[in-house]
Amino acid sequence: MYLGIDLGTSGVKLLLLDDGQNIVASASAPLSVEHPYSGWSEQDPASWISATETALDELKHSNGAQLSAVRGIGFSGQMHGATLVGRNDQVLRPCILWNDTRSHVEASALDANPLFREISGNIVFPGFTAPKLAWVKNNEPGLFDRVEKVLLPKDYLRLWLTGEHVSEMSDAAGTSWLDVGARAWSSQLLAATDLSVDQMPRLVEGSEVSGQMRTDLAARWGMGTVDVAGGAGDNAASAIGLGTVQAGSAFVSLGTSGVLFAANDSYQPNPESAVHAFCHALPDTWHQMGVILSATDALNWWAGVSGGDPATLTAELSSASKPTPDLTFLPYLSGERTPHNDAAIRGSFVGLDHAHDRSALTRAVLEGVSFALRDSLEALRVAGTRIDRVMAVGGGTASEVWLGILANALDLPVDLPKDGDFGAAFGAARLGLLATENADPATVCYAPDIERTFEPDLTLRDRFETAYQRYCKLYPAISGATR
Ligand code: XUL
Repeated sequence: MYLGIDLGTSGVKLLLLDDGQNIVASASAPLSVEHPYSGWSEQDPASWISATETALDELKHSNGAQLSAVRGIGFSGQMHGATLVGRNDQVLRPCILWNDTRSHVEASALDANPLFREISGNIVFPGFTAPKLAWVKNNEPGLFDRVEKVLLPKDYLRLWLTGEHVSEMSDAAGTSWLDVGARAWSSQLLAATDLSVDQMPRLVEGSEVSGQMRTDLAARWGMGTVDVAGGAGDNAASAIGLGTVQAGSAFVSLGTSGVLFAANDSYQPNPESAVHAFCHALPDTWHQMGVILSATDALNWWAGVSGGDPATLTAELSSASKPTPDLTFLPYLSGERTPHNDAAIRGSFVGLDHAHDRSALTRAVLEGVSFALRDSLEALRVAGTRIDRVMAVGGGTASEVWLGILANALDLPVDLPKDGDFGAAFGAARLGLLATENADPATVCYAPDIERTFEPDLTLRDRFETAYQRYCKLYPAISGATR
């Protein structure tokens, strides 16, 4: 039996997997996010521990025998957060989360130092960890001087579970301090933020053992000797769950934000197009991601404005057929990461006409998000990645029309997995299995069965291409006109 622990932003999820990779049980507990000032987003690390305890209590109650048979645990975690610990592992301040933008000035300053893109392979985004520490140094200098270790969220949970300061490559790649090609901390990048390698946790691979569960905690939940794997950042963990591990395999996540994730067998950075190039959770593998900030979030916004709900709005559309003529939606409601790296840009409808009704605008929203993902696909292509098909996951996949539009916008077949729980907690449990049994990732990380494939409609190819070219012209025009 193996346990996956996914520390998300809105909750902790636990998932029990048996030796045949069947899901036996899951349990979760909510987390809250504090926004004390505009742009701030913080969480109390103690709440991660208490939520994990609550979920473990629930599993013990519902599936005590299976929980006591757990041999390996793996983590998945929300990425980039700065958890600062001082002497005796005491937490110095609330964790500054991935979606906190207070350090945008520090991020631009670090990004202007060419060493960061050269060594870390990525733009220094405001959400990443290094600029958060630069902000703490500038604004809370007394506290900065007391920092003994900087831990990512799931690595703080590991410290509680095992007593060890350890991180792993996929999450460490999102700090701006990792030499992503060499899979090692960069003393040069750390020095640029007045930190040293001593203040970083030891690094392991995601599928390696990072330590053992503390015996007092194991006894509390009736467990024995349990290995704890390195685990992964949430997107890499989802990829492990979906079997997106071989070069060329890819998935699109239509969640609040949208992700196009591709596995790579070599390090292929392309910071100029705001591609994220990170280590994957398996040794000697990497991945690229395009990240768009509003996916289902754009549809939810349009639902709120138009007085429908997302399911009703998408049901009003008959099929994936022809793109809305001369109407384009830019989904930059909270700025954009890939390919523009522009926190200030905002969304638009362009080309509104008396003939456009609610359903025309709904279709434009679905197309706009799909074209934003096409931008990510093109950015990954420039970075040397060839993608022949994608798997689609996330809440937006509830709409078949959207999946049809996505297939046409990407001009790729889109595979929809059979119903099941292939998310980050499942991938985390697989990493627990891999580390504990020293198993072969190729036999463990297989893809789920496919329910249905949405093929691009060749008769619509030209029209979608024309609509995408129009979409591409609008970002420079709008950003030029609004600042
Ligand atoms: C990835 C990213 C998010 C967070 C939160 O770069 O910012 O996926 O990991 O889930």
